[in-house]
Amino acid sequence: MKTRLKLGVNIDHVAALRQARGTPYPDLVAAAHDCVAGGADGITVHLREDRRHIQDADVWRLRRDNRLSLNLEMANVPEIVRFALRVRPAEVCLVPERRAERTTERGVDAAGRRRQLQPTIRRLRAAGIVVSLFVDPDPRQLAAAAELGAPVVELHTGDLAGATSAAARRRRLAELIRGAELAHALGLRVNAGHGINTDNLRDILRIPWLDTLNIGHSIVARALFCGLTTAVRELRRALAAYRGGA
Ligand code: PXP
Repeated sequence: MKTRLKLGVNIDHVAALRQARGTPYPDLVAAAHDCVAGGADGITVHLREDRRHIQDADVWRLRRDNRLSLNLEMANVPEIVRFALRVRPAEVCLVPERRAERTTERGVDAAGRRRQLQPTIRRLRAAGIVVSLFVDPDPRQLAAAAELGAPVVELHTGDLAGATSAAARRRRLAELIRGAELAHALGLRVNAGHGINTDNLRDILRIPWLDTLNIGHSIVARALFCGLTTAVRELRRALAAYRGGA
């Protein structure tokens, strides 16, 4: 069955450019509007504990703009959870966070951290927020996500994006396909993200049951040459090739 695959655009790197100089520009909300004009279905930002790019005020401004559907990526730490409960974005994606990492390196350990995740998922859901867990395509993690009552998982595609040989790419893609099949069978909505670009998109589009792809860095990089609206529109067009579930 052919499905319309949704596109969430992560604009952290627009904020990173601003933070590099401490200027008021580039404006995040204007960037989000350009993404929507190009066909983005939602906007994603990661409020990191170290506030290296996105700031609290950015999240509030994006949330208050009723043209945007906001997905807030965040670690399961009390300060940020309290903030999310005040802001109430449409969606929260729980990710692990390490101070020294350049970007989110792994999925959340849903199987090993049930005790810490359970109350957070419950509180976010009670506030009307759709909760997603960013997980590696590992059966143990997917089963734990379903048991924890998260309605959505985002499959970490970083290993496929970073694979350096054809054999490794095939292996990583097979893991993602099996992960998506299992997540779907468990009744989870399946998103995917991390490191997706026009070079690996053909592989990504072979993953079944996808609802949304979350893409950031490659879109913002492409936007340097053609602008955000065109960069998003190009990707949106490429997603039309998606065939959906098996
Ligand atoms: N999804 C999650 C959970 C992420 O942590 C990130 C990176 O912030 C992305 C998607 C987007 O990754 P990229 O910027 O590599 O496209």
